[in-house]
Amino acid sequence: MEYRHLGRSGLMVSEISYGNWITHGSQVEEDAAVECVRAALDEGVTTFDTADVYAGTRAEEVLGRALKGVRRESLEIFTKVYWPTGEGKNDRGLSRKHIMESINGSLHRLQTDYVDLYQAHRFDVETPLEETLRAFDDLVRQGKVLYVGVSEWSADQIARALKIADEMGFDRLVSNQPQYSMLWRVIEAEVVPLCEKEGLGQIVWSPIAQGVLTGKYLPGQPPPAGSRATDPTGSGFIGRLMHDDVLRRVQDLKPIAADLGLSMAQLAVAWVLQNPNVSSAIVGATKPDQVRDNVKASGVKLDAEVLKKIDDVLGPVVERDPAKTVSPSARP
Ligand SMILES: NC(=O)c1ccc[n+]([C@@H]2O[C@H](COP(=O)([O-])OP(=O)(O)OC[C@H]3O[C@@H](n4cnc5c(N)ncnc54)[C@H](OP(=O)(O)O)[C@@H]3O)[C@@H](O)[C@H]2O)c1
Repeated sequence: MEYRHLGRSGLMVSEISYGNWITHGSQVEEDAAVECVRAALDEGVTTFDTADVYAGTRAEEVLGRALKGVRRESLEIFTKVYWPTGEGKNDRGLSRKHIMESINGSLHRLQTDYVDLYQAHRFDVETPLEETLRAFDDLVRQGKVLYVGVSEWSADQIARALKIADEMGFDRLVSNQPQYSMLWRVIEAEVVPLCEKEGLGQIVWSPIAQGVLTGKYLPGQPPPAGSRATDPTGSGFIGRLMHDDVLRRVQDLKPIAADLGLSMAQLAVAWVLQNPNVSSAIVGATKPDQVRDNVKASGVKLDAEVLKKIDDVLGPVVERDPAKTVSPSARP
């Protein structure tokens, strides 16, 4: 495993991290979840990503149990706040109240005194940015949070936050967590250039496009049993990609991966890691063998000719529109 700085911060993270959205506390049983975490640790993954909202807060509990006994200093634990964690009108968003309450719940469930990175899961249009950033800064002063970042914020939102942090003397954002894969490149036009200039790193999600880039979903055929596309919680998210034009083109990536001696999942993860603004690719897994497969992408270099071949194969199904980075227009 190779390690990178999280943006321009001093924190080192594994360039492949393990995330537990959809899987822990939901799609997979606890034994399988723990086995995946163990496999990740064995392969040198030190960075683990979760969120208060995953599986209605159960995902943090599972991760807390799975990491119990591991030397805390050897881990980087990331979580998030924004999406609803309860029925109450204040159980959501980025108000000072919800941030202060949600971090306490996350720390309790994760069985730790601090998280290494606390991320605003989306932009909250109903809270002044100053309020959110001051609450984040207070958590840093309290030692509950070591670094702060955001997820799926637009370049304009990140720029506004940095300006306020500089004016008010708050801790600066060190990272953004966007969706990024060969198929979804919407951060490249605006978010990445700003973050490169300002020293934020990308911790990218769904680098394998939720399994689609493994090539296991065949055009015109039902998805394999037990895969995310068949899972009641997962199928809604992956549905956007389950179109024959996308699936056919993905099949055409197979010879490229084979020529390089890579699995399709490794090619997909290696692809996002070629972007120097990416600090880490967060992979998900339902089985330990998937983790072992995916982590081998660490350190792989893809030359310009390979990147061009991938672009030629995928052609028009690649999404690049920066306007696709959106947060809800009202609090969920
Ligand atoms: N900030 C955000 O808004 C946000 C949103 C989404 C995710 N995330 C983060 O990003 C993490 C990763 O997202 P993701 O799970 O969508 O990532 P992903 O790595 O693109 O997809 C993971 C899924 O693909 C399948 N898979 C993975 N490796 C495979 C392999 N080698 N062979 C065959 N199938 C394989 C597995 O599902 P099956 O076995 O079920 O098919 C696995 O659960 C999340 O856990 C979370 O931490 C953040």
